[in-house]
Amino acid sequence: MSDVVKQQIKDLLLKHNAVLLAHNYMRDEVQEIADITGDSLALSIEASRTDADVIVFCGVHFMAESAAILSPNKKVLLPRPDAGCPMADMVTAEELESLRAKNPGVPVVTYVNSSAEVKAHSDICCTSANALKVVRSLCEDELIFVPDRNLGRWIARFVPEKKFIFWEGFCPTHERMTVAAVLRKKAEHPDALFICHPESAPEVSTLADHVCSTSGMYDYCRTSQATKFIIGTEAGILYKLRLDSPDKEFILASPALFCPNMKLTSLEDVLISLKTLEPVISVPEEIRIKAKAALDRMLAIPRD
Ligand code: 13P
Ligand code: SF4
Repeated sequence: MSDVVKQQIKDLLLKHNAVLLAHNYMRDEVQEIADITGDSLALSIEASRTDADVIVFCGVHFMAESAAILSPNKKVLLPRPDAGCPMADMVTAEELESLRAKNPGVPVVTYVNSSAEVKAHSDICCTSANALKVVRSLCEDELIFVPDRNLGRWIARFVPEKKFIFWEGFCPTHERMTVAAVLRKKAEHPDALFICHPESAPEVSTLADHVCSTSGMYDYCRTSQATKFIIGTEAGILYKLRLDSPDKEFILASPALFCPNMKLTSLEDVLISLKTLEPVISVPEEIRIKAKAALDRMLAIPRD
């Protein structure tokens, strides 16, 4: 059954000159059929460069919205429009404007886990993969960082010369990973390295051997001499980690590392979306232009 669905998806992708982008947290079977899998940065870059006519975005709403901002002439489909990101909903453009008004002249760095409206009120965007470079690219010695308090505080450790004004947003999935859960896994597997995402609570990140984006985890685990890793991010990451390094062992740091939104999209949803060419994600033009400026400024920063 699922092989039939996969073949139908492949045929429709071809028919519509469509590309299927999937975030690293998607269900295994969705990652398996994707043309490109990646972290938020890699998927944004792909969305800005692809010559496909249709982008099928398997991820959450803000990711498809970024693709629509970057590629206005393409049809961007989000098979599950109800796949949101609670962190992105934790700051509104009005709230950001009132913070700006209290801090005139202070630049705003906005994590891509945010709405198009919030991006439109920002100076520059960042992802977990480039946040440090983005912050270092600013000449000002003070900045507003929204919405993720944990990513912001993690980055701030490396730039003590800059003053951060944080927003108290967070990822509920990563914050469910407790110090007790991590210490338990470390005790069970004393020979394993602990790697976590910077959305984790600060007391968890300080326990880590390495803190990085989801794609950063692939690179780190593939090239590390170590053979055993405790993974502190959403469970979907395990699919490609195990595929990339079948001889290595990957243990999820906590059973709570499960993002319900990232797990919504099924193969059937992808198929329906390709059959109907809906739901289309679009952004009003005046918001899109301003949000694109913040994303473009981020994308102009060279990758490692
Ligand atoms: P990455 O950019 O590291 O893939 O993270 C996106 C995300 O939503 C993490 O929760
Ligand atoms: Fe949002 Fe967290 Fe889910 Fe990522 S894992 S989409 S930040 S709720």
